[in-house]
Amino acid sequence: MSILAHSNVPQNFDSALPLGKALVLYVDRVMLNNFRSYESMELNVGASSVVLTGANGAGKTNLLEALSFLSPGRGLRQARLSDVNKLGAKSPWAVAGRVMTPEGMRQLGSGLVPRHELSSETSPDRRIGRLDGENLSSPAAFDEILQVAWLTPQMDRLFVEGASGRRRFLDRLVAAYHPTHTREVNAYEKVMRERGRLLSEGNADPVWVATLEGRMAEHGVAVAAARLDAIQKLGQAIMESQSAFPRATLSLGGELEEDLLIRPAVDVEGDFCERLIQTRQSDARSGRTSIGPHKTDLLVRHVDKNMPAELCSTGEQKALLIGITLASARLSATQFGAPPLLLLDEIVAHLDEKRRGFLFEELYDIGSQVWLTGTDKSLFEQMGKRAKFFHFEDGKVEEDK
Ligand SMILES: Nc1ncnc2c1ncn2[C@@H]1O[C@H](COP(=O)(O)OP(=O)(O)O)[C@@H](O)[C@H]1O
Ligand SMILES: [Mg+2]
Repeated sequence: MSILAHSNVPQNFDSALPLGKALVLYVDRVMLNNFRSYESMELNVGASSVVLTGANGAGKTNLLEALSFLSPGRGLRQARLSDVNKLGAKSPWAVAGRVMTPEGMRQLGSGLVPRHELSSETSPDRRIGRLDGENLSSPAAFDEILQVAWLTPQMDRLFVEGASGRRRFLDRLVAAYHPTHTREVNAYEKVMRERGRLLSEGNADPVWVATLEGRMAEHGVAVAAARLDAIQKLGQAIMESQSAFPRATLSLGGELEEDLLIRPAVDVEGDFCERLIQTRQSDARSGRTSIGPHKTDLLVRHVDKNMPAELCSTGEQKALLIGITLASARLSATQFGAPPLLLLDEIVAHLDEKRRGFLFEELYDIGSQVWLTGTDKSLFEQMGKRAKFFHFEDGKVEEDK
């Protein structure tokens, strides 16, 4: 039986004893099957933050990646979904989480859809979502149950690399205050691909193309409007927050978003639709859609240094990202009704003792269940009883008592 099929697992009330501040949302238990280095594993956590320590290659990031699949998208490594399969495994990977939420215990599951169940050989990899034992058409609905945010060493290059990484980061932030945002983004991209396909085939029915462009404009403006609203709220939250991490200003580099600042949404939508019609020929030639919210960039500045993030030092950029993530978590706690699950992979090793202390204080104050990783357990001493400590060795995970 697949681990995704478990839905009525008895609750373990002992594990809900709060360690420190009572958490309102936490992963009580996580189970993995054929997930990267894990053939099968189960971790019972309870109402507590978690510190995972172990040598390089022990499987810490793999576990955080598994948790990141309790939100829509391709997870914290942005991996190809089939690469997540344990090498040599016969059945596809699956993750299941028993999650305590303000509405009670929920069972979330996700896993790769096997090739032979896809509609055609050339279909892209897909993963399903399961909620309380029912199949979902996509994991997008997980955003309505819990929020998951993460920081990883790969994100150190977020401000200096291309816009797509920042746009993904932005859209995860937005989803914390607009739970239907991911669905809106997916819908926009789906229609955009459909239009692109029709245009590239030539001889497309203009009426059908226009219908698709109308839908693109509708979804596109909804995406842009949600981003604008989220950025404004988050910007305000950053300015009001007391944090040991530097403050950032956020803005959006995107035509639709800029247009929405000065004109009503209906006008922006009509205009976008018109421009899609005008760019049909050039889009058909280039095989790309030249305008739209799929090109938007997130622009970040370091307030105290009055400098764009990409010109700040690597350390300052990391600190800025932590600051944004903490402010967003704080805001989503009030807007969404529960703070997000926070997956912080190898974050503390770069902070001095004082900053680490501040980070742990802020995390505690936000009330998130935090999953922290590192090679050196001593760096987490200040977490004290606020976390359960697990140690990875020889492919096994053991709790340090
Ligand atoms: N698809 C896969 N199948 C089997 N092993 C994998 C797969 N992907 C990654 N691994 C292995 O998982 C191990 C643990 O990785 P990781 O979780 O990143 O370690 P760390 O504890 O340093 O974060 C690595 O040795 C890597 O080779
Ligand atoms: Mg790692």
